[in-house]
Parts: sequence; structure tokens; C-alpha cells
Amino acid sequence: MIIESVWEEIKKLELLDKQGESYTNSEGRYGWRNPIRKDTGKILTSLMLAKNPQRILEIGTAHGLSTLYLVMGLDHSKSVVDTIEFDAEVANSTQKRMDRLQVPVSVLEGDAEEVIAGLDSFYDIVFFDAQKNKYYAQLMALLKKGCIGAGTMILADNVSDRREECLNFLNWFPENRISHTIIETECGLLVASL
Ligand SMILES: C[S@@+](CC[C@H](N)C(=O)[O-])C[C@H]1O[C@@H](n2cnc3c(N)ncnc32)[C@H](O)[C@@H]1O
Repeated sequence: MIIESVWEEIKKLELLDKQGESYTNSEGRYGWRNPIRKDTGKILTSLMLAKNPQRILEIGTAHGLSTLYLVMGLDHSKSVVDTIEFDAEVANSTQKRMDRLQVPVSVLEGDAEEVIAGLDSFYDIVFFDAQKNKYYAQLMALLKKGCIGAGTMILADNVSDRREECLNFLNWFPENRISHTIIETECGLLVASL
């Protein structure tokens, strides 16, 4: 992977209109395919640099902006990112982007809970950024499958601007005495350690 090419691609993706693309979510409702805000990207990269994870799972790929910020903080000789996207066309084009950039990313196509049911890896980091009202169910599915556990870092976007939609997810951390904090980015980024 060539760091400069990844950075050029990040700059291009950041120019995409943040309100320009809608999609129909798994409940048949209208949703926005908004990428992470600029303030969040470098936090994701910094957390990867600090944690030095081997296996990362992202839920909600879209065009891969957050994926590339994750990739920027990884040791490419040993780290891999799996990222889940249910829109087949978007998943295909983003996989092509990742292949062109030669970054260690696999886009797993399908609904997150269905994809999780077929996973057999343990993840050091999980970044939640798909449907907000599904964060809790996806977290429970990952725990049940044994894909996360002691030592996994949990990251989740939009926990402030869309707090009501992910309240059961947010409440789970204090209820289970899990160390966590919320970084007050434009959207709110939860950082927790299991
Ligand atoms: C907010 S966007 C992700 C933005 C991306 N993380 C970024 O910063 O560039 C959410 C994406 O998750 C996908 N998505 C929504 N619900 C999903 C689900 N249940 N399973 C898999 N993907 C889902 C949408 O198609 C959309 O592309």
C-alpha cells in the first residue's frame, strides 16, 4: 500500500456531498449514507496507532472513507480490516477501491447481523457506523458469536447526534460496568474497552 495514494483517496471521498446519497434501510425506511465527519477520521487513525490491532471489524462501509482512516493507522504487514455493507453495488465498488489501493480490506456484503452469524474471527476493534437502532443487536450478536470479548475496543459513531436511536446500546456500557467515554466530535464517538 502507498500511504500517499490512500491519503489522496481520503481527500477525494471527503469532497462527496454528505447529504447527497440516500438509501433504503433494512426496515424499508429512508436513511442517509453519510460518511464520518472530518473531526472523526484522525481520531480513528490515532486509536489504531495506539492500539496496534491485528483484526478490525467495521459495520457500515459505504464508500470506505472511515475504512481508509482506520487503515492509515495500521501495521500493514499484520493487520486486516473486515467491513460489512448490505448494498451490493456499494460493497462491490468499495472492494474495487480497496483493491486498487492495495490495502488489506475485505468488504463483506450483506446485512450485518446475518454476516456476523457467519464470522469466526476474534476482533481487536469493532467500529459501529450502520443503522443506529441496530447497534445493540449487532453488539449482542458479536458477543454471542464470541467475535469480541476481553480486550476488544468498541467504537461507535453518532452516539450524540442520534443518541435516542442507540440508547439501549449506550446504556449497556454503564449497566455492565464497561470502561467507556464519549468524544464530543460533531456526531459523538463512543470509545469503550471490554
Ligand atoms: C453512515 S454510512 C457508513 C459511512 C462509512 N462508515 C464512512 O464513514 O465512510 C452507513 C452504511 O451502512 C450500510 N448499512 C445500513 N444498515 C446496514 C446493515 N443492517 N447491514 C449492513 N450495512 C448496513 C448503508 O448502506 C450505508 O452504506
